[in-house]
Amino acid sequence: MQQRSGALVGALLLALAIALGPGGAIACSMLNNDNAEQRGALLADPASVKKMPDISMQDAVAECNRSFVIQPDYLAELNETGSFPDETDRIPLCFIRCYLQTLGILTEEEKVNKDVALALNWASSSETVDECLDEMTGSPCEKAYYLTRCVMTRALVDGKSKNNKRK
Ligand SMILES: *[C@@H]1O[C@H](CO)[C@@H](O)[C@H](O)[C@H]1NC(C)=O
Ligand SMILES: *[C@@H]1O[C@H](CO)[C@@H](O)[C@H](O)[C@H]1NC(C)=O
Repeated sequence: MQQRSGALVGALLLALAIALGPGGAIACSMLNNDNAEQRGALLADPASVKKMPDISMQDAVAECNRSFVIQPDYLAELNETGSFPDETDRIPLCFIRCYLQTLGILTEEEKVNKDVALALNWASSSETVDECLDEMTGSPCEKAYYLTRCVMTRALVDGKSKNNKRK
């Protein structure tokens, strides 16, 4: 038993040594650079975008509900749980894209406008937006939804930990 766990530790240490070896360190820093570049490409240039939306959040909902009909309780689900019950249904996902674009959180070029995201308190911090950029994969509607899901989930987790601290 002890011999076996000894071998296991040995194997883990070897894996760690390989990961942390000179080659590993280079691969790691390359990954980080790629990541920063990818994130940068998803962000709107702050100099060329609006700082505040010219429409209220309620009006944006009403506007997008015309093209992508969504029920209020379905939308509330996202707010309360951080995700939609059916993530394969394209309409609610495209509603989210429309909503973000109407407010200007997402530009016409599908880039994230951090200024508006923070001004509306849609995202709680710049770091949250940065980290959630990594979730933006798939079709344009999926990208908008995965970004939102990430931001909402973080808000729920942060809110819970705040509530726990208060108790
Ligand atoms: C969207 O429009 C439908 C009617 O087409 C309405 O029943 C529903 O309440 C609206 N959704 C929201 C979120 O306002
Ligand atoms: C979303 O949840 C927050 C509380 O977590 C609440 O204040 C807000 O009114 C909710 N919004 C919607 C659209 O349900």
